[in-house]
Amino acid sequence: MTGDARRGAAAWGLGALLVGALVVVLATAAVTAWLVAAAVGPGLFHEHMTSAGMADHDAAVVHAEQAFQDAGTVSLALALGAAALVSAVVGVVLNRRIGRSLATVSTAAARVGAGAYDSRVPEPGLGTEFDDLARSFNAMAARLHESDRLRARLLADVAHEVRTPVATIAGYLEAIEDGVQPLDEDTLAVLREQSARLTRLADDLAAVTRAESGDLTLHREPVAPADLLHAAAGAVRERAAVADVEVGLDVTDGLPPVAVDRTRLAQVFDNLLDNALRHTPPGGRVVLAATHEPDGQVALRVADTGEGIAPEHLPHVLERFYRVDTARDRGHGGSGIGLAISRALVQAHGGTLTAASDGPGAGATFTVTLPPA
Ligand SMILES: Nc1ncnc2c1ncn2[C@@H]1O[C@H](COP(=O)(O)OP(=O)(O)OP(=O)(O)O)[C@@H](O)[C@H]1O
Ligand SMILES: [Mg+2]
Repeated sequence: MTGDARRGAAAWGLGALLVGALVVVLATAAVTAWLVAAAVGPGLFHEHMTSAGMADHDAAVVHAEQAFQDAGTVSLALALGAAALVSAVVGVVLNRRIGRSLATVSTAAARVGAGAYDSRVPEPGLGTEFDDLARSFNAMAARLHESDRLRARLLADVAHEVRTPVATIAGYLEAIEDGVQPLDEDTLAVLREQSARLTRLADDLAAVTRAESGDLTLHREPVAPADLLHAAAGAVRERAAVADVEVGLDVTDGLPPVAVDRTRLAQVFDNLLDNALRHTPPGGRVVLAATHEPDGQVALRVADTGEGIAPEHLPHVLERFYRVDTARDRGHGGSGIGLAISRALVQAHGGTLTAASDGPGAGATFTVTLPPA
């Protein structure tokens, strides 16, 4: 069916419904008025005439009663005719306006169904129900548009990430087959490292997808912010010692507990501390702090004295696959997903994760805010 034919059918369906409803209303009104006028009117008129002292069969009375009946019939017929005319006009106008609005929405829905996610419909101004329909439709289309854009970007990023290790493995295998490269311990180490990178990428992708889709079961319990930070600091003590970076704690007294899944939050702080240790040179310092925000939220910070983040990179570091120094950060084995996973986990708790830095060399601070329990 073409768009026009479909529109025609929709308009006809709605038009028939409106005409049917108006005909039923008119017919009911006509029959009721007729019955009442026929049964009640003449009797009442006759009673008035006799109570005014007129004789029953007086010619003037018969004449007046006939005149009353004729006047009644003509008035009723005129009123019904006018009502039918107004109903027809109202029906046509409503049918055209509602039909046009519905046709706009159904055409836009067909376009969205065909993949044109940028289709939007104007609010028809036909009352709140129709305006709500248009708004919900536009919100749905915008959401689909956004997820389609993310899907396309994710696929491109994944393809990009997979290409390098797969190309390395393929290159080595070919060289081994050609006898150019011996299958010794060094070669095996390269192959193992590249396959480990692919495995980690697959694991990270699964984790970020799960976290971002909201498909997470959180086992929340009230936890004191100080406990969270103590546990996080304890978990990286050895890595910090190896990196020769001091890890300190700074917790404000009297903080309310937060309702969190300890394991997920531990994962968030492990990612943040792993980054902080990796980007802080030996002799540096990482501080874990907890404070009360003016808006009632609890803020948990991981601040380092490391290499910092330039302003142009700062808005992007929380995005999937974003690395400031692609070659070097990848050399560390990172896929650039740690912060995206952390942000999704914090958001699943109803909180936020933000990054701040005064620039290269000035250290970086990552802040997790959580609503109090
Ligand atoms: N504390 C920090 N100081 C300076 N730069 C940082 C810091 N934390 C993160 N970054 C920058 O943000 C980028 C993204 O961090 P993210 O944790 O998402 O990825 P990654 O650490 O490179 O890899 P992954 O965490 O997946 O192993 C890092 O590559 C790094 O360039
Ligand atoms: Mg990381």
